[in-house]
Amino acid sequence: MKMYRVKDYNAMSRKAANIIAAQIILKPDSVLGLATGGSPVGTYEYLVQWYKDGDLDFSQVKTVNLDEYKGLSKDNDQSYFYFMDQHLFSKVNIDIKNTHIPDGTIEDSDEACKRYNSIIEGFGGADLQLLGIGHNGHIGFNEPDEMFIKETHCAALTDSTIEANARLFENPDDVPRYAYTMGIQNIMQAKTIVLIASGKDKAKAIKDAFTGPVTPAVPASILQLHPNVIVIGDEDVFSLYE
Ligand code: GLP
Repeated sequence: MKMYRVKDYNAMSRKAANIIAAQIILKPDSVLGLATGGSPVGTYEYLVQWYKDGDLDFSQVKTVNLDEYKGLSKDNDQSYFYFMDQHLFSKVNIDIKNTHIPDGTIEDSDEACKRYNSIIEGFGGADLQLLGIGHNGHIGFNEPDEMFIKETHCAALTDSTIEANARLFENPDDVPRYAYTMGIQNIMQAKTIVLIASGKDKAKAIKDAFTGPVTPAVPASILQLHPNVIVIGDEDVFSLYE
């Protein structure tokens, strides 16, 4: 595992974008596992800039996103489809047919998850998976649990996650209670995993995930067992890390 302690959010974003850019340059048809949330916004900004500068070509890149809220359609501005379009897909030369996000509008959870799982299986996992981390140590929407769930599944969001994500919704009651998410095995199949985190509010999650026991109570702790994980965090997020 490589840990990079950088100054701030901008430095974190730049370093993550550099690693993703190198991946695309070295393997133009890479399968990128992508994340949403506040953490990757800056990373996507750098990638868009470098595309505009002519340094990056997304024409052969394929993507699989971690998760999507159940019940939100693509045109809902809180859907992760909308987020990805706004922050990356509409701004680079990616072929939208090569982008994959669970379909939140499929009512039948088993069907939605089966469909998405087979897409990930078809790729044999991502070449590089970008991850954020939740305050409770969740990755994707793999919430703390008594066991790790391997495959794509419908997760019931915890109160902590609903509360954290409510900031993005007009009304906290609008936060969906369920989401379709890649499972732990889907994530662990990636050849390289890049986890980004910033801010004092995530310091405990980072400490628990990378210095504590590997336990489904802290889903990100499973990453300790992955052979190629890169953690990029700012000074605040590493403030409890020894
Ligand atoms: C959400 C997403 C995660 C993300 C996490 C942290 O719950 N499902 O993939 O990593 O929140 O988000 P943020 O980066 O906004 O703190």
